[in-house]
Amino acid sequence: MKKSKIFVFDTTLRDGEQTPGASLNINEKVQIATQLDALGVDAIEAGFPCSSPGDFAAVGAVAEHVKRPIICGLARATKKDIDAAAEALKKARRPRIHVFIATSKIHRQYKLHKTKDEILRASVDAVKYARKRFEDVEFSPEDASRTELDFLARMVEAVIAAGAKTVNIPDTVGYALPEEFASTIRYLMNTVPNIGKAVVSVHCHNDLGLAVSNSIAAIMNGARQVECTLNGLGERAGNAALEEIVMALKVRKDILGGMTTDIRTKELLKTSRLVSKLTGIIVQPNKAIVGDNAFSHEAGIHQDGILKKRVTYEIIRPQDIGCKGSTLVLGKLSGRHAFSARLKTLGYSLSGEELDQAFARFKNLADKKAKIYDDDLAMIVEAELATIPEVYKLIDFQVTSGNNIRPTANIELVFEKKKLRATSSGDGTVDACFKTIDKAIGIKGRLVDYKVRAVTSGKDALGEANVKIDFKGKLVIGRASSTDVIEASVLAYVNAINRLSGSVGKAKSSRKGR
Ligand code: KIV
Ligand code: ZN
Repeated sequence: MKKSKIFVFDTTLRDGEQTPGASLNINEKVQIATQLDALGVDAIEAGFPCSSPGDFAAVGAVAEHVKRPIICGLARATKKDIDAAAEALKKARRPRIHVFIATSKIHRQYKLHKTKDEILRASVDAVKYARKRFEDVEFSPEDASRTELDFLARMVEAVIAAGAKTVNIPDTVGYALPEEFASTIRYLMNTVPNIGKAVVSVHCHNDLGLAVSNSIAAIMNGARQVECTLNGLGERAGNAALEEIVMALKVRKDILGGMTTDIRTKELLKTSRLVSKLTGIIVQPNKAIVGDNAFSHEAGIHQDGILKKRVTYEIIRPQDIGCKGSTLVLGKLSGRHAFSARLKTLGYSLSGEELDQAFARFKNLADKKAKIYDDDLAMIVEAELATIPEVYKLIDFQVTSGNNIRPTANIELVFEKKKLRATSSGDGTVDACFKTIDKAIGIKGRLVDYKVRAVTSGKDALGEANVKIDFKGKLVIGRASSTDVIEASVLAYVNAINRLSGSVGKAKSSRKGR
C-alpha cells in the first residue's frame, strides 16, 4: 500500500483557545507550543494576530521560540489582518498565513451582505496580497459544508490559481455527516482542475459529535491535512480531537494503513495533561484516549479478560500514548480473579478457603463503598489471616537527630533466635530507620507510600503508621501503632517485612505441595 503522510495542523492555541472559559497567557502559549513541537505536529496555529494585542504578542512569542513546525497566524480576507499576521510572524522560521472568508448562503446573506462574486473577488485579492508577504498561504471558505457545491468548487479553483498552497474545507458548525462530508471532498478532488497544486485540508467541529468521524472520512477521500486540537477543545462543542484522529490512523492500519502521521504518540497523554492544566478545562474521565478511565476496567468479566489476555478488552497499549498501564478498579462489579491478582501484588497469598472468605468480605464492603483502596484490602486480609507471624522481631531502636546533624539509627532485631544489629544514616529519621532495618536484614525496600495518623486524641495519642513498600517489584503493606510515631513507623516497616516473609514462605510451600 502506498504511504501518504497526513499533515497534523494543531489549532489548540487558536480555535482551542476559543473554548468558553479557556484563556492562555503568552508564557502558557509558548509552553504548549514547545510541547506540541515535542509531540511532532507539522503546523501550529498560534493565534489570530489582528484580534487583540495579546494574540499578536503570543503569535510573535511562539514564532520566536518554536522553530521546527510551521507557525501559522489566522487572518480575515483584509489587508489589515494580513499585515498584522505578517508583522507577528516576522521571527518565524517557517511562517504560514491562514486567510478565511465565509462562503455559505446563510453567511453571505445575514453576516457579510455580499454576493458570491464579491466574495470570490475578495478571496482572490486577499490570497494574492498574502502571497506578497508569505510563501505559504492557506485559505478557508468558512462554513464550506453548508456552501453550494458548485460555488465551493469555483472558490477552491480560484484561490489555488491565486497562490494558495493549502485549501482548508471547514465544517464550521459541525453540521456534516461523515458520508456527506466524504462526498464533498471526493467532489472537489474530482472536479477542481488545479486541485493537485494544493494540499486539501479539513477542519471539523463537533456539534453533532462527528468531528473525528468526518475528518477520517475526508482523509479516506483525499484530504491530506487535518486541523485539530488537543482534548477536542474549541469553539462551542469543540474541534476534532488530535489524539483521536492520530490513534484511529494508528490502530486501524488494516483499513487506513496508507495514511501515517509524524506524531510521537507516547507524548499524547503528557500534552493533553499540560493543555488541561494550563487552560483549566478538565478532561472528562471517559474521554477517548486521554481520559482517566480510558484504560480502567471495572466490570468483573472485563477484569478477568484483561488478566487473561490484555487484547480482550483493550485496543490500544496504554504505553503507546504515554500511560503507565491499565488499571483494574476494585469495586462491587469486580470478580475473584481481579481481587486475588491485586492481593498478590500487595504481597498476600491466600489459600482457597481464606480467599473465599476474604472475597465475601470484600463484596460486602464494596456494596457500601464505591472505591476500594489498598488499605481496605489490607484490613480485609488481616481480618482473615488474623495474625502475621513475627519472623523478624524488633528488640531495640535508637535514633539521633537534630537540626545540624544527619539522622542516624541503631536497630536490633531478632530472627530465628539470632540477633541482627545495624547502624545507618538517612535523609530523615524515618529514612534512617528503614535503611538500618534493610542493612540488618540484608534486603532492599523502596518506600512507595507512608502515612501517619492519630487514632486517639490527647498528648499521648496513639499514632498509626501505614507503609507501602516495594520489595523488588512486590508491593507489601505494613501497619503498626504506638504512642511514638517513629516507633510506629519502625514497627510498620518490620510488619511489612514479616508479611513479605509470610507470603514468600506460603508461596514456596504451596509450590512444593503441587
Ligand atoms: O471553524 C472554522 O470555520 C474556522 C475557520 C477560521 C477555519 O475556525
Ligand atoms: Zn473552527
